[in-house]
Amino acid sequence: MRFALAFLALASSASEPGQITFHRDVEPIFQRRCQTCHRPGEIGPMSLLTYRQVRPWAKAILESVLLRRMPPWHAEPGHLTFRNDLSLTGQEIQTIQTWVRQGAPKGDERHAPPKQPFASGWRIDTPDVVLEMPMKIRVPAGGEIDYIYLDVPTGFTEDKWVEMAEVRPSNRSVVHHAIVTIRSPEGGYLAGYAPGMSPQIWPSGTARLVPAGAILQFQLHYNAAGREATDRTRIGLRFARTPPSRRVVSMRASSPGLVIPPRAADHPAEAATVIRRDVELLGFRPHMHLRGKSFEYRALPPDGRELQLLRVPRYDFNWQPFYYLDQPILLPASTRILCRATFDNSPNNRHNPNPDSYVYWGEQSWEEMMIGYFEVAVPVEASHKPLD
Ligand code: HEC
Repeated sequence: MRFALAFLALASSASEPGQITFHRDVEPIFQRRCQTCHRPGEIGPMSLLTYRQVRPWAKAILESVLLRRMPPWHAEPGHLTFRNDLSLTGQEIQTIQTWVRQGAPKGDERHAPPKQPFASGWRIDTPDVVLEMPMKIRVPAGGEIDYIYLDVPTGFTEDKWVEMAEVRPSNRSVVHHAIVTIRSPEGGYLAGYAPGMSPQIWPSGTARLVPAGAILQFQLHYNAAGREATDRTRIGLRFARTPPSRRVVSMRASSPGLVIPPRAADHPAEAATVIRRDVELLGFRPHMHLRGKSFEYRALPPDGRELQLLRVPRYDFNWQPFYYLDQPILLPASTRILCRATFDNSPNNRHNPNPDSYVYWGEQSWEEMMIGYFEVAVPVEASHKPLD
């Protein structure tokens, strides 16, 4: 009897068992997965640093994580793993769900994790060269803003091997994404910035050639942030200290013959390319415009297998990350890369600028594209000839 009483007393003095609290259980998740974007000066529309800031958003947070709208990460789980994966685990979603359903209690501040230090300055090793956009861009307070393209000459007098690259907006609250490509015949994607994404660091011994005289193209997608702002994005490049053994090459499968009929809700398209030599596959970037609905990559090696690489079941034009594989994948010569996409030209697509028009290939966002970009590494001595 005495034993039972003592047990009861113990149970009631501890904080309610099974209760999930903000400070103990939820705050560590927000530190890892939300605060890179949801803090002052960043792209997230509200700060999620403190309980007071988070509490009014509890219901919206639950909805956004259950629908997997937040964090923004669109690769279907269960295939390959990506080193820049932002998504929550099932367990983390469960914790947030239980917490919100229990009334989003604060809990004891003493259980809070230490405050997260946020990186300031370059996240790659000190760059050897920093190239800046030629001028500041004025971002209006509201409305949709068209993509902006700017050329930035490197002024390089010799070829350079780049092993790390980081794109840094001067004003992260308005830059939705920035992509820097090399404008040359063998050019390709150099580096990109998207909120929450890590900088471009290729596996050791692997580097991207930026030829003498190359011109970089900055593509910027700005987001109005409620008041007028300016931005001047830069790129930092770190050159290889020793000659690399592998070079990075950009490849793509595209479908320029695209014709999407009016009101088609699930219009399929396909694109393929064959890789002529053994390569290491490093990552992907699917690209479509406002009617893009889904995108997937498969590899068909010559032995008859069919490998699912990346599936983006709900493509979102606003988020165009590069998906970097955790581990490069070896693909033998003659592997076919097959991309399949669907487009939604129906009025149900809230981004659709005009469901009653035929849509063809074009640069403008009211036209369409279907490009499966991917990046591979090959031995440096491999000829400069195209790989496909
Ligand atoms: C990569 C940056 C990024 C990360 C990481 C991120 N968010 Fe967001 N979040 C945004 C942006 C930007 C918006 C504005 C809507 C949009 O552009 O999709 C947003 C919108 C939201 C909204 C909707 C606000 C509204 O107006 O309804 C909620 C809720 C939210 N985020 C919660 C979270 C939570 C919770 C996490 C972590 C589990 C998280 N976000 C992680 C960038 C991010």
